[in-house]
Order: sequence, then C-alpha cells, then structure tokens
Amino acid sequence: MNETLNVIKSRRSIRKFTEKQLQEEDLQAILEAALFAPSAGNAQPWHFTVVQNKALIDELAQTAKDAIVAGGRSPYQEMAQREDFHVFYHAPTIIIISGNPKAGFIHADCAAAAQNILLAAEALGLGSCWIGLVMMILHGEQGAAWCKKLEIPAGYEPVHVLALGYKAQAKIPAPERKKNCINFIR
Ligand SMILES: Cc1cc2nc3c(=O)[nH]c(=O)nc-3n(C[C@H](O)[C@H](O)[C@H](O)COP(=O)(O)O)c2cc1C
Repeated sequence: MNETLNVIKSRRSIRKFTEKQLQEEDLQAILEAALFAPSAGNAQPWHFTVVQNKALIDELAQTAKDAIVAGGRSPYQEMAQREDFHVFYHAPTIIIISGNPKAGFIHADCAAAAQNILLAAEALGLGSCWIGLVMMILHGEQGAAWCKKLEIPAGYEPVHVLALGYKAQAKIPAPERKKNCINFIR
C-alpha cells in the first residue's frame, strides 16, 4: 500500500506510553509537519506550546481529574475516579495548539495542524492521542490562570491538545469505522 495511506490507516489513539522522552529531531520533524498544514487564507493562526515538564503535565492532569470527578454525571466521571487515571496517559510530551481568533477558521486550521502532528508521530514510530477532555480546564474557570502558566501568547486561545510519546502497548485494531457515511452523485 502507498506509504502515506498506510500511515493514515495505522495511526491509532495510544493510551499507554513509556517514560522515554521524544528525540529532539523527531520533535522538530513533527512540529515542522504541523507548520505545513493548510489554513484558511494561509492565515497560519496557530501557536504550538510543547510541554515536556513532567511536574507541569502531572499538575494539569490532576486538575483535570479533580474537575471531571467533581463534575457530576459526566460519562467520564467513573473513569476519572480510578486511581491511575491520568488524562494524558503519562505521555512525556504534550502539545497545546492555540489559535488567534482574529482568523476566521481557527478550529479547522488548528485541527489540520493537529492531524499532521498525529500522522507525523505515527510515521516516526511514535504514539499519540488527541486529548479533548482537558479543554474543560483550559476553557473553564481556571483557563486564564492555566494559559498564563502555560505561556500561551496573549490574544491566543487553546484549541487542541495532543499527547505524544513512545508506545507502551501492543498494536491495537482500529475501532470499527462507519460505512454508511458516503454517497456519490455522479
Ligand atoms: C477532538 C478529539 C478529542 C479527543 N479526546 C480524547 C480524550 O480526551 N481522551 C482520549 O483518550 N481520546 C480522545 N480522542 C481520541 C478518540 O477517542 C479516537 O480518535 C477514536 O476513538 C478513534 O480511535 P483511533 O484514534 O484509534 O482511530 C479524541 C479525538 C478527537 C478527534
């Protein structure tokens, strides 16, 4: 199969990572892939915050855990109550993609960059997981304080967060894909 298509199909959300940090050249290649994503009007309205400080990652994970547990009847509450729950699955690197809302399509632009990161990681033999759950913190009451702590540039807002690291789990089969979501008008 074509190499690119193979990477696209092989990528899975990885939820178990080793402690080993990414090699710097891999990280740089992944970030470069992000920069080559398409963006509406070529606005490139993104900023990438690479966090490799374990104490800070753990603090954000604990804040998210506490908020999900306190949040009542969310479908994630039971999962977050587990002692070993870590919203980033102990990944050694997280990347926060922020967008400048002056651009018109930051969610699409930042999502395109995010997918490039996931695919570049897979191509380099690394694991990754998109972590939407943490947005409740970054967009919640504590959001401004966290943005300051995470040095998100003024005027930018966090849009997507990704966890990255070496895979610590065997290859997993892809969750089944819906098949009846395509039609053709020819
Ligand atoms: C916007 C978005 C948010 C996500 N948030 C989470 C998350 O917080 N935690 C998690 O474990 N997986 C998260 N995922 C991963 C999905 O669960 C996963 O992509 C889906 O189950 C399909 O599996 P696959 O990525 O292995 O193909 C998220 C995916 C997307 C696109």
